[in-house]
Amino acid sequence: MKNLLMVHHSQTGNTEQLAKAARQGAAELAELDLQIRYLVAAAAGPDDLRWAHGLLLATPENFGYMAGAMKDFFDRTFYAVEGELNPLPYALMISASNDGTGAVQAVERIVGGYPLVAVQPPLIARGPVTSEHRQQAAVLGATLAAGLDAGIY
Ligand SMILES: Cc1cc2nc3c(=O)[nH]c(=O)nc-3n(C[C@H](O)[C@H](O)[C@H](O)COP(=O)(O)O)c2cc1C
Repeated sequence: MKNLLMVHHSQTGNTEQLAKAARQGAAELAELDLQIRYLVAAAAGPDDLRWAHGLLLATPENFGYMAGAMKDFFDRTFYAVEGELNPLPYALMISASNDGTGAVQAVERIVGGYPLVAVQPPLIARGPVTSEHRQQAAVLGATLAAGLDAGIY
């Protein structure tokens, strides 16, 4: 049994669309021996990270950075799990109006300390979330789930 933790923050619903699509993409692989825990960043904490074998993060880009709620998740958990995690495979999704790279860089600067290890390139969905974005998020969720289940990650 593998445990996949999905943590997201969304103020106006765009990132939430990506997170839901990723959850659906992972959940559709019904044959996998996988549990999914789907949480908003404000409700996620150290015990969720300890439980997880893999992590999918989703945040909007705000002011060229990750959303404050996602930063708060990192602030609250970093010392709590320090030295306890095996390198945890993770992937990242960003919703942004026209950029997204600042949020990616902000997350990537932090995660090495946990340590989290990127196993897929970040997905940046620019502008209003489209069906293509949701499809990309679904594929990312399914890929993470299948890779965990197969022991690839
Ligand atoms: C306070 C604030 C700051 C933002 N800063 C950026 C930014 O730096 N770059 C960008 O591309 N979009 C920026 N945006 C746009 C959001 O990233 C975009 O609307 C996103 O889809 C919001 O996701 P959400 O609906 O999940 O909250 C900003 C939005 C807000 C509210």
